[in-house]
Amino acid sequence: MLRKFAILSVTLITLAGLSFAADDDETPTGKIMEQIQNKTNALRKATRTKADFAKSTKVITTDTEAVVKLAKEAREIKEPAEKEKKPLAAYQKLMDDMIKSAEDLSKLANKSGSTQIQAKEAFTAYTKTCAACHEVFKKDE
Ligand code: HEC
Repeated sequence: MLRKFAILSVTLITLAGLSFAADDDETPTGKIMEQIQNKTNALRKATRTKADFAKSTKVITTDTEAVVKLAKEAREIKEPAEKEKKPLAAYQKLMDDMIKSAEDLSKLANKSGSTQIQAKEAFTAYTKTCAACHEVFKKDE
């Protein structure tokens, strides 16, 4: 009986978790941002140490490509600008800054002779473009 109860409560907790994940009120931009976040975490790892960077050219190339693609989708979504009552062009400019910084990181990784220090700097410049947009367009809801 006790065992049955234990199984039942685990099932209920699992179900509660699933419905929580399913009915979140995530926006299209939020969904894209989560994917950008995942790629950014991978890019952080890829540039963390000399050894990481030495074996990560391919990861950096594919992940920055993925970020650029996602960012190009996100820049066409009007809601964030509308919500902040700011011009869409301002939003798109900040997205373009991010796209450019991702491309810079990729170029650097694919250039022979680039160092991990340079890659780390390029990664930091890239994450600054996230913050620059969030400051204006992702105020805490
Ligand atoms: C041009 C604007 C812009 C840029 C650049 C940008 N973001 Fe965002 N981000 C947003 C907006 C707007 C939201 C809020 C979306 C919402 O909840 O509707 C957001 C939300 C997020 C979230 C929360 C997602 C969620 O669960 O709702 C994460 C994580 C995130 N961004 C990561 C990043 C990272 C990492 C970068 C840089 C590599 C980045 N963002 C660059 C505009 C931007």
